[in-house]
Amino acid sequence: METKQSSFIHSLNAFNAFMRRQAEEAKGGKAKLALIGTGSRGMYHVNNLMQIPQAEVVAVCDIYPPHLDNAAKQYPQAKVYTNYLDAIHDPNVEGVLISSSLDTHAPVTLAALRAGKHVFCEKAMARTMEECKEVYDAYKTSGKVLYIGMQRLFDPKYLKGIELIRQGVLGEIVDIRNYWYRNNDWRRPLLKASDEKVINWRLYRETSGGLMTELAAHQLQLGTWVYQDLPDYITGFGDIMYWKDGREVYDSVSVIYHYPNGKRMTFESIISNKHYGMDEEVLGSKGTLELAKGLLYLEEPTPASNILQFIQESERKEAKPVKVAGSSWRPEILYDTKGIPILENLQVHDGSNTTGAAVDDGSKSLVESFCYAMITGKPIPMLVEEAYYSSLLALLGNLAMEKRQVIAFPEEYKIPYEGIR
Ligand SMILES: NC(=O)c1ccc[n+]([C@@H]2O[C@H](COP(=O)([O-])OP(=O)(O)OC[C@H]3O[C@@H](n4cnc5c(N)ncnc54)[C@H](O)[C@@H]3O)[C@@H](O)[C@H]2O)c1
Repeated sequence: METKQSSFIHSLNAFNAFMRRQAEEAKGGKAKLALIGTGSRGMYHVNNLMQIPQAEVVAVCDIYPPHLDNAAKQYPQAKVYTNYLDAIHDPNVEGVLISSSLDTHAPVTLAALRAGKHVFCEKAMARTMEECKEVYDAYKTSGKVLYIGMQRLFDPKYLKGIELIRQGVLGEIVDIRNYWYRNNDWRRPLLKASDEKVINWRLYRETSGGLMTELAAHQLQLGTWVYQDLPDYITGFGDIMYWKDGREVYDSVSVIYHYPNGKRMTFESIISNKHYGMDEEVLGSKGTLELAKGLLYLEEPTPASNILQFIQESERKEAKPVKVAGSSWRPEILYDTKGIPILENLQVHDGSNTTGAAVDDGSKSLVESFCYAMITGKPIPMLVEEAYYSSLLALLGNLAMEKRQVIAFPEEYKIPYEGIR
């Protein structure tokens, strides 16, 4: 399959080269940031920002005093705000990093872009499809950098996996299966009952799209990345099946995305059984990739050492398509049913932590690249488009489940993206 220049980077080598170039050009520069939303993900970013010499946090902002205090303690020199507009309009602030609840993503992003500030905003892009489009349109006319918290696009094992897919190792891709299982109620403890909607915003429809915006938004991004296409129809079922505690968002969802060529992508999530954990599985006529685990399985018994050599070689230079089977082929070693690791130093996590992975899952590189882009004015291409479509697919899944209907992909929400066929 041919890689289109204007789509997101499709190979680990090209990605590494991009990051090196960006770092070189940003050397000695400073990205002056306001952190807006200093809860658990906000503090996770703080941990990464502390290790990035180009990042300078000049302001912190939150409406919940204990969280604001945590961030202020880390940055004694920073201005402290409780109103995000004041943080945005601080003349010392060049960009904002938004880690507040989903309902705030669009208003804060729009205010910042319109004030001429660069924006990093956590996923999902926004609470509604209308807001996603408004953010995208504002970004296109702003001339500013916009990054969305889609760390898989910066995770070496995903980049390697996509590279192998492009090189034909999996043959023709026939299915994408995404799932995310946990066993907890998703609730956070309260200091006082009146904080419920601020602390447990994930459980209410006004502030959250539930499992779709919190979990699926990451995984559904594989639709554009792998298929380079958009679904024509979406349907699914969602229920509050187990945690009947007053929450408004589903605790169990199954959604099907149907593509014009008859292929499908699915997302399934329940939070009352964690046995299967999480993964994104890409199924091809010649093999299967478990992207979150970084494992490759081939359909036919194949010399694993041959594949490993191919993978290692392709890390050093662009490899040619590998011959996985043929008439003269003989097995060198037994077929490894445990899967072939696609990187030498795989960093994997089980997706059980709602804050972020303890190992490198691309989150640090993502924030690093944002800081570099603020300095150089050169963001990684097509991140916004990838994030826009994954957010839209998540929200369309919710719409289909709420209506209990098959929803056609709405034409008015298509944006220019040549990565899409
Ligand atoms: N990329 C990832 O893997 C990942 C992981 C976890 C969370 N997230 C995202 O990060 C965001 C935050 O999640 P979290 O778990 O840190 O939530 P959290 O509840 O721990 O933190 C959110 C913070 O935003 C603050 N806030 C709410 N409204 C505000 C406003 N108007 N102005 C300023 N601050 C405001 C809250 O007081 C709270 O401190 C969400 O969008 C979530 O989806 C992304």
